[in-house]
Amino acid sequence: MHSPTPEGPRDRLVELIGGYRRTALVHAAADLGLADRLADGPAGTAALAELLDLHEPTLGPLLRALAGLGILYQDDQGRYGLTGTGELLRRDHPHSLHSAAVYFGGMSYRAYAGLGGAARTGDVAFDSEFGTDYYDHLRRHPDLAEHYHRMIALPEGAGEVIAGLYDFGGARSIVDVGGGNGSLLAQVLRLAPDAKGLVLDMALCEPMARETFSAQGLADRGRFTAGDFRTAVPAGGDVYLLSRVLANWPAPTATRILANCRAAMDRGARLLVFEMVMPERAEEGTFAVEGDVNALAHFGGGVRTRREFEDLVGSAGLVLERVRQVDPAAHWSLLECSTGEGR
Ligand SMILES: C[S@@+](CC[C@H](N)C(=O)[O-])C[C@H]1O[C@@H](n2cnc3c(N)ncnc32)[C@H](O)[C@@H]1O
Repeated sequence: MHSPTPEGPRDRLVELIGGYRRTALVHAAADLGLADRLADGPAGTAALAELLDLHEPTLGPLLRALAGLGILYQDDQGRYGLTGTGELLRRDHPHSLHSAAVYFGGMSYRAYAGLGGAARTGDVAFDSEFGTDYYDHLRRHPDLAEHYHRMIALPEGAGEVIAGLYDFGGARSIVDVGGGNGSLLAQVLRLAPDAKGLVLDMALCEPMARETFSAQGLADRGRFTAGDFRTAVPAGGDVYLLSRVLANWPAPTATRILANCRAAMDRGARLLVFEMVMPERAEEGTFAVEGDVNALAHFGGGVRTRREFEDLVGSAGLVLERVRQVDPAAHWSLLECSTGEGR
């Protein structure tokens, strides 16, 4: 009789246990700006140490380990250069993942490290690790806030996906609540040429949003207002967007944000909530499950099921008119809400 071989499960677990090392190495590469320095071609350890003012005996093993990960390669002269993967860590690469590496391997990593403790106490993991909440931390560290906003910006094409699910043709005034650096609103405005748009977000987003609008020739139609959506949302929009905001907040705050949208909406206005929706059976939605624990670690929030959304929206005085699924694999949906008073 054979007992089941332990090798498969054991190898899998060992890999999971050691996963942090790779995250940390990629983070170190991004944090030190190695890829930017190597953009013009390979360099030896001593030259890199001098250029970046680093401790050469520590840098050597780090570079070797990054070569082991396939981020760098070593040439015949022992110099290190960027592989195709490593190129993506350059800040100026059009598809740069530099901000993601800094963000995930630094701040986000520490939040995840607090998850066990959070399960014991019920506190938000991020808050326990950093002694303050997530957005407050970003307010105090504008450099991190910039990485965050660069990293989270929805890809080009997201506006088209949303516009494929909701006809912005009749829209005159679109308010993007928590619209960040304005990239989603800019995409929507390009598809709704008669509309003006307003981003509401934290003050630190203003320069980024202004830059987005002016770079896309939308300075006359895209505006920014600094504010706190937990306190108030500007009135006057006929369409309100709330994209990837609600999962970041526990139910009482999420209800308050929705109620503030409701208070700003005239009869006939629409609120479009773009969020992941958790399937009733967890194994159907790995991506949603990952998003859920991510929201939990950073914010004490989570991804909601359709039924939870119905309750949440209803408790804010709104009516969930329809849910349109964007991408069944990732469970992104557009939830269209009205005031329930008709047009
Ligand atoms: C996950 S991002 C989503 C950004 C954008 N809506 C999108 O889908 O790309 C959440 C946004 O909420 C903003 N935010 C967080 N707290 C806020 C507050 N109290 N008032 C206004 N905006 C806030 C953040 O700055 C960030 O831009």
